[in-house]
Amino acid sequence: MKTILITGGAGFIGSHVVRKMVKNHPDMQILNLDQLTYAGNLENLFDIESSPNYSFIHGDITDIPFLEKLFGEHEIDGVIHLAAESHVDRSITDPMSFINTNIVGTVNLLNACRHKWKDVEGKLFYHISTDEVYGSLGSEGLFTEETAYDPRSPYSASKASSDHLVRAYHHTYGLPVVLSNCSNNYGPNQFPEKLIPLAIHNILHMKPIPVYGKGENVRDWLYVEDHASAIELIFSKGVPGRTYNIGGLNEWKNIDLIRLLCGIMDEKLDRVAGTSEKLITFVKDRAGHDLRYAIDSSRIEEELRWKPSLQFEEGLVRTVDWYLKNPEWMENVTSGAYQSYYSKQYGER
Ligand code: NAD
Ligand code: DAU
Repeated sequence: MKTILITGGAGFIGSHVVRKMVKNHPDMQILNLDQLTYAGNLENLFDIESSPNYSFIHGDITDIPFLEKLFGEHEIDGVIHLAAESHVDRSITDPMSFINTNIVGTVNLLNACRHKWKDVEGKLFYHISTDEVYGSLGSEGLFTEETAYDPRSPYSASKASSDHLVRAYHHTYGLPVVLSNCSNNYGPNQFPEKLIPLAIHNILHMKPIPVYGKGENVRDWLYVEDHASAIELIFSKGVPGRTYNIGGLNEWKNIDLIRLLCGIMDEKLDRVAGTSEKLITFVKDRAGHDLRYAIDSSRIEEELRWKPSLQFEEGLVRTVDWYLKNPEWMENVTSGAYQSYYSKQYGER
């Protein structure tokens, strides 16, 4: 039985990846390593937590002795690395935690694998990254896997740095690695500091929806389950040393997306059409705000036969339904209730 370590598995994307791997691969032992920061919580995984091929490990990827012990105790065959500080606005106010987790934490994991994997046959280190490493586009063009890196926020610079280090370990030490760079994810379990869940939360409570600048920045949105399927596929079929861009072919200006969401929420909440749009409030722009991201995902489509499966409107309706059905999840993550529950259970780190 192979043992796969998934880092950041209690977070937004990680929890969807863990669930998919646990359910689809009973022949694999899935270890979920997560520090349970404000962004991670185990309620995301209630439904699979007693599966025989699943275990949770509370730990920090910046803690080298902890990683040495973990790799000493388990014969780890593969790593799917998602643990990160992931929110751009937080990276502007506190860059250091991004440097520590995203860069130093990634190198610690690479070192653990390099030292443990004397024979690399059947081993793989899969690094999950972002389209933000490529910088910002004007109104035309798409990011390909060959686009030169041009990160412009502390978050994207930390992810770009970790991508370079992963490739350097492949080139220098022959570590088998694969990488993917994905566009904006949305869906259930996303922490409500990111645009879509924040807007859902505020519309529900009749609070202002903050739109940065004029709302003209463009993002390419992908439903989180589609990203998780791409990750599962790349982990099993991706070619070592190769990078795959993953996108939704689904570009939206922020203001148009928010208007669409307001319409869906008015319907779901039986409000008069136009009620939620009145909450839109233009606020000071994000510092260094990238104008547009857009992905050319033809490599993964052609080589691995992956495509997004869900239309955006359908994905948004599913997402809204999930948040409306889980008000206690939203309440707990925004009040910090999970943090105090877990620190009692697992101790502060
Ligand atoms: P998230 O913030 O929801 O989750 C991150 C998880 O990592 C949390 O569970 C957190 O507790 C854990 N973590 C943080 N620091 C840790 C540490 N030092 N040790 C162990 N665990 C730690 O993030 P997400 O949105 O699910 O993103 C997951 C990955 O995907 C990240 O690497 C991110 O850069 C990448 N990504 C995200 C998006 C997106 O739209 N959200 C798009 C492309 C790529
Ligand atoms: O592109 C992939 C990236 O997408 C991931 O690597 C990041 O981890 C993820 O957080 C996301 O980054 P963004 O900065 O694009 O996501 P965010 O939800 O923070 O913002 C989306 C857009 O909405 C962006 O143009 C900023 C704008 N925005 C955001 C917030 C939180 C607002 O207008 N108002 C807001 O309150």
